[in-house]
Amino acid sequence: MKVLIVGNGGREHALAWKVSQSTLVTDVFVAPGNGGTEQEPLVKNIPISSNNIEELAEFALNNKIDITIVGPEGPLVLGITDKFKSLNLNCFGPSKGAAQLEGSKEFMKDFLIKHNIPTATYQSFTDASEAITHIKNIGCPLVIKADGLAAGKGVTVALEEKDAIKAVQECLNNNIFGKAGSKLIIEEFLEGEEASFIVLTDGDIIIPFASSQDHKARDNKDLGPNTGGMGAYSPAPVVTEYIHNKIMNEIIIPTVQGMRNEGLNYCGFLYAGVMIDYENNLKVLEFNCRFGDPETQPIMMRLNSDIAKLCLEASTCSLKEQSLEWKQEVSLGVVMASGGYPFDYETGMEIFNLPPETNLTKVFHAGTSFKDGKTLTSGGRVLCVTALGADTTEAQKEAYKTVKRIKWDKCFYRSDIGYRAVEREK
Ligand code: AMP
Ligand code: GLY
Repeated sequence: MKVLIVGNGGREHALAWKVSQSTLVTDVFVAPGNGGTEQEPLVKNIPISSNNIEELAEFALNNKIDITIVGPEGPLVLGITDKFKSLNLNCFGPSKGAAQLEGSKEFMKDFLIKHNIPTATYQSFTDASEAITHIKNIGCPLVIKADGLAAGKGVTVALEEKDAIKAVQECLNNNIFGKAGSKLIIEEFLEGEEASFIVLTDGDIIIPFASSQDHKARDNKDLGPNTGGMGAYSPAPVVTEYIHNKIMNEIIIPTVQGMRNEGLNYCGFLYAGVMIDYENNLKVLEFNCRFGDPETQPIMMRLNSDIAKLCLEASTCSLKEQSLEWKQEVSLGVVMASGGYPFDYETGMEIFNLPPETNLTKVFHAGTSFKDGKTLTSGGRVLCVTALGADTTEAQKEAYKTVKRIKWDKCFYRSDIGYRAVEREK
């Protein structure tokens, strides 16, 4: 079968790499892909941007694509699945209506409250002075979130009032997120440990992936500004069998059922960011209507099951109840980023010492391009060096061994990815 993957990040490199291992798959196209997918032996990049739904649909029709798997939220929120369905093309990802779970924080929060799914208390605002009065009334810490899509940068955890007020002003008055920030929500601050819980569903049958944990903050010890994610590992030790079942029963099943009952059947990857407090109470932090990045990289590294087959079955309503097969090892990915990220950074730096893939290590590309035999940086998050190990400590050691060899000008990375799990293993 022929597979089209939409997107150009590390997630899409990992999906393309995994899909190309399927015995059912003859061709893998990535639109637009990156320098890593360009260099994958069985994968071909197609120069169509991921939000160009018309051209993507035309490509899928002309090339008789059997299944399109959508990586990023952008085209899903724009309605790529609806467009493909109208042309009788199989596309794995939620419809425009269902993708609102990620596309609008207000939609998500209203949905959670309506369906009794636990989440932080909140209020939404379009007026800065009303938001600031609210902040003064309830006091910090609290969390400010732009309503729409802001590339993972729309959230401010404000420990002090002045930071909360600044976030409100930047969002509502200075429009730093454009239309996505014309509304915001102010949310109760939650404490505990976060985990990423991702499932594949056709709106009825739900197949959970292994748990994972990502590090969203830029600096060691989870300090500094929020990023798209500086590293991730799987499984997350905090997600014990008890917590796994609790997440399924309290969050995932009611969400998939609730969406169906609202006429918004959810077919696609569903990602719940969950806060687990010290008494094992759960609260939903966020939903993503797609696989996580960088969680995909360590998860695909551990997965033995055929992801292409699963996506095709889900999008054609022939999915069967099943458990996925996993490698026993722990997998851990370290993001190597351009100096300055998540703010301004330079691109076009040549990357040196990229190692070939081994049984234990794989370098997934995100912001790279491949020109004249050279791999160059082209984005903020550049690589995700992913490794397997008997436990998190071993996987971490293995990943950093490779990270330390790879060089480019002004590269940076966190040196403590997986630290919570490593501490637990001591
Ligand atoms: P989100 O995009 O909503 O997941 O937010 C990004 C990150 O901000 C999360 O992964 C958390 O680390 C943090 N965060 C979001 N909401 C809260 C909250 N209510 N309490 C504490 N931290 C939060
Ligand atoms: N790693 C967080 C995300 O994919 O949104």
